[in-house]
Amino acid sequence: MNKSISILAGTISFALFLISLIGIAGPQEDTAKFQQYFFNRFPNVPKSEFINGSYAIDKIGRENWEAIEEFPPYELLVDIGKELWETPFANGKTYTSCFPEGPAQRKNYPYWDNKRNMVVTMELAINDCRIANGEKPLKYGKGQLAQISAYMSFASRGQTIKVPLPNSPKALAAYEDGKQFWLQRRGQLNFSCANCHAQNAGRRLRSNILSPAIGHATSFPVYRSKWGNLGTLHRRFSGCNAQVRAKPFKLQGEKYRNLEYFLTIMANGLTFNGPSSRP
Ligand code: HEC
Repeated sequence: MNKSISILAGTISFALFLISLIGIAGPQEDTAKFQQYFFNRFPNVPKSEFINGSYAIDKIGRENWEAIEEFPPYELLVDIGKELWETPFANGKTYTSCFPEGPAQRKNYPYWDNKRNMVVTMELAINDCRIANGEKPLKYGKGQLAQISAYMSFASRGQTIKVPLPNSPKALAAYEDGKQFWLQRRGQLNFSCANCHAQNAGRRLRSNILSPAIGHATSFPVYRSKWGNLGTLHRRFSGCNAQVRAKPFKLQGEKYRNLEYFLTIMANGLTFNGPSSRP
C-alpha cells in the first residue's frame, strides 16, 4: 500500500475502534473488539504472544530480551519475595492465612468485591492481609510489596486470565470508569493511553517501540533497568501519566484499580507471565 493510504486506513480503523468502544455494548463485546483491533493490526502475531509487550512485535528487541530473560534480573528479588511470603507476622500467622490456596493467586485478581463495592487487586489484597494480621501496610509500587507480588506472579505463570465480567451496576460503573480513563486524552501533550498503545502501537517513540495495550496487565511486576528494581503495574501507569505531563494518580487508588480492572478484562483469555524484564 502507498504510505499515505496506509496511514489513512490506520486512522480510520482507529476511529472506528474508538467509536465501537464508546458505544454501550458492554464488557464482553468490548473485549472482543479490543482484541480484534490488535489481531487486525498485527495479523502475523499469534494471540498468545501479546503477553510479551513490545517484544510481541519487535523482532530485534526480542532477541536481546530473550537473552536477558535467561538470567533474569528479577530472579533474586523473586527469592526475597518468597522469604517475605514465608516469614511469619508478629502474631505467628503468614500470608497463607489470607491466601489459603498459596502464592499462585494471580488468576483471582483483580475482581469486583460486592461487599466492599470496589475493585480489589492482588497488591491491595497483600496489604489487606498485613493489616488484618496487625502489620503495617507496605508502600505500593516497589520494594517489598513488589517483591512479594513478583513471587506470587512467578508462582502463577501460565494461569489463564479470566476476570469475571461485572455483574452489578456498581461493578459496571467501575469498569466504565477504567475504560474512560484509558480513552481520555490528558496532560500537556493531550494524549490518551489509546493514542499511544492502540493508534501508535508498533511505532517508535524515542528509543521505544510502543506496546499493544492488549497485553498490558499480563507481565507485571517488571524489573526495569531504568528503575534499577522491580515496579508494579500502577507504578507504570503513573509513569505513563507523567510522560504526557499529566498528574499521576495514587497507586492503588480507585482510578488505577478501575483502570487495571478494565485492562485485565481486555486481556481475558491470555495468560499471566509476570514477572518480566524491561529496559
Ligand atoms: C506518549 C505515549 C504514551 C502514553 C499516552 C501512554 N504510554 Fe504507556 N508507555 C509508553 C512507552 C514509550 C512505554 C514503553 C514501551 C512500551 O512497552 O510500550 C510504555 C509502556 C507502558 C506499559 C508497560 C508495557 C510492558 O509490557 O512493559 C504499560 C502497562 C503502559 N504503558 C500503560 C499505559 C496506560 C494505562 C496509559 C494511559 C494512562 C499509557 N500507558 C499512556 C508511552 C505512552
